[in-house]
Amino acid sequence: MKTAIIYATMSGHSKKIAKAISKELNLPTYNIKEKPAINEYDLLFVVSGIYSGECSPELLEWAKNSSQQQVKSVALITSSMSNLPQKFLRNALCGNNITVKEKEYLCIGSFLFMKLGHPNKSEIASAIEFAKETIKDCRSR
Ligand SMILES: Cc1cc2nc3c(=O)[nH]c(=O)nc-3n(C[C@H](O)[C@H](O)[C@H](O)COP(=O)(O)O)c2cc1C
Repeated sequence: MKTAIIYATMSGHSKKIAKAISKELNLPTYNIKEKPAINEYDLLFVVSGIYSGECSPELLEWAKNSSQQQVKSVALITSSMSNLPQKFLRNALCGNNITVKEKEYLCIGSFLFMKLGHPNKSEIASAIEFAKETIKDCRSR
């Protein structure tokens, strides 16, 4: 099963989560800013934050132009100050017939002096567990 992680980040949390999953599960990791060539993936973990209630513009642009040929299914891992899901990103991917796992891993991410210390060690460990479970689930189907 061809699997990878892409991330979009402003303050580094998504990169930290993505790299932790990558290290544990030995998966390639790509920064959306580097415009990675995503092709023929069975499963892609998309890790990012929420900014003014929205998705990172680069990530949304990629999602709007994505196809089933590039990626069959996506699992979202999202950090924000208030545990928000990636509504616009999910809609853009679903609109292109890409399967987006219903379960999204949500965790708190600090912003300036608010929610300091998040995502913490245990939230990052839970993100790794989420990724492991998602892969197991995909393999059993
Ligand atoms: C410019 C900016 C705007 C943000 N807007 C929101 C927001 O509207 N709602 C929210 O819950 N969190 C908001 N946050 C918090 C981020 O979602 C949170 O810090 C997240 O962990 C950032 O991920 P990153 O470090 O990978 O960029 C904002 C953060 C930044 C830097």
